[in-house]
Amino acid sequence: MIFRELNHGKCKTYLVGCEATHRAALVDPVRERSDRYLAVLAYRGLTLDYAIDTHTHADHRTAVFDLKDLAETRVVMHRQAPAPHVDLHVEDGQVLEVGKLRLTVLHTPGHTPDGICLLLEDRVFTGDTLLIRGTGRADFEGGDAGLQYDSITGKLFTLPDATLVFPAHDYRGNTSSTIGEEKRLNPRLANRSREEYVSIMANLGLPLPDKIQEVLQPNQTALEDDRIAFPSIAQLSEVRQLEPERVWAMIRSGPAHHLLDVREPAEYAGELGHVPGSVLIPLKDLAARAGELENAKGRSIVAICRAGVRSTTAAAILSSLGFDSVYNLKGGMLAWNERKLPVER
Ligand SMILES: [Fe+2]
Repeated sequence: MIFRELNHGKCKTYLVGCEATHRAALVDPVRERSDRYLAVLAYRGLTLDYAIDTHTHADHRTAVFDLKDLAETRVVMHRQAPAPHVDLHVEDGQVLEVGKLRLTVLHTPGHTPDGICLLLEDRVFTGDTLLIRGTGRADFEGGDAGLQYDSITGKLFTLPDATLVFPAHDYRGNTSSTIGEEKRLNPRLANRSREEYVSIMANLGLPLPDKIQEVLQPNQTALEDDRIAFPSIAQLSEVRQLEPERVWAMIRSGPAHHLLDVREPAEYAGELGHVPGSVLIPLKDLAARAGELENAKGRSIVAICRAGVRSTTAAAILSSLGFDSVYNLKGGMLAWNERKLPVER
């Protein structure tokens, strides 16, 4: 097996490759290092089958979309990931084959809803779910310390004690650990109950990362247009969120609402379908095409996307453009389909 950490920094990117077939995968590639990854792949004669993000990163821009473009690889993220242009949405238990290697997906929500770990033979990539003597913070949008505790104790800590642990970050210069060591020595987890863990995580008092908004929104939306001013955290938190049942009730009560889908055309026509009567304007075109919504100005607008993240951005943009009755479909088409509400394809 070819196995390398490629950044030698606080953010970790792992290259795994099959020596027999020259197929490879990258786990958590960082955008500013894309050129280096391409050079390593070329030098070793490896074909990149997958660029995998273990979750939506808030502290650095991901390279997966650049690699999709430049190395014609497939972008892999969990089903809950909000970003468009993901080629393969994976679920718990799914296996990715990289030549003769097998990467098994473990869904480990908590740090983010879309968090996954990847099990590869004697080792596990733990993303920001489990760090060396630490854990990823659970206080970002969608984070849940209780779920994180369940993911770690119920999934990762059931692996053999000798399993090697390779996290997405390390701030102290560590390179690997084992499941057994973390069970015994991780101060947040060793002999801690779920309640204790939740209380520890609620009292970390960490500042938000620098540039969180400039990083998180492009990673969530794949928006590359630098001319678009991303809404601030405060603007996003003001967006009114509606459960799917509420939106369905609005639709049935009459045509006084404008349903605005902000996904990509392929998603609108894709497996999740779209809400009947919804009109498509992709998020990247929204600022330029907002004029098309002038006739909706007196009505309520409900923004819709895959997971409810891009549409929250869209709703905040529309609010800032003077639309005053804008809502978001909470959980997006994923939640809509889970409730078995009607869709068109
Ligand atoms: Fe993270």
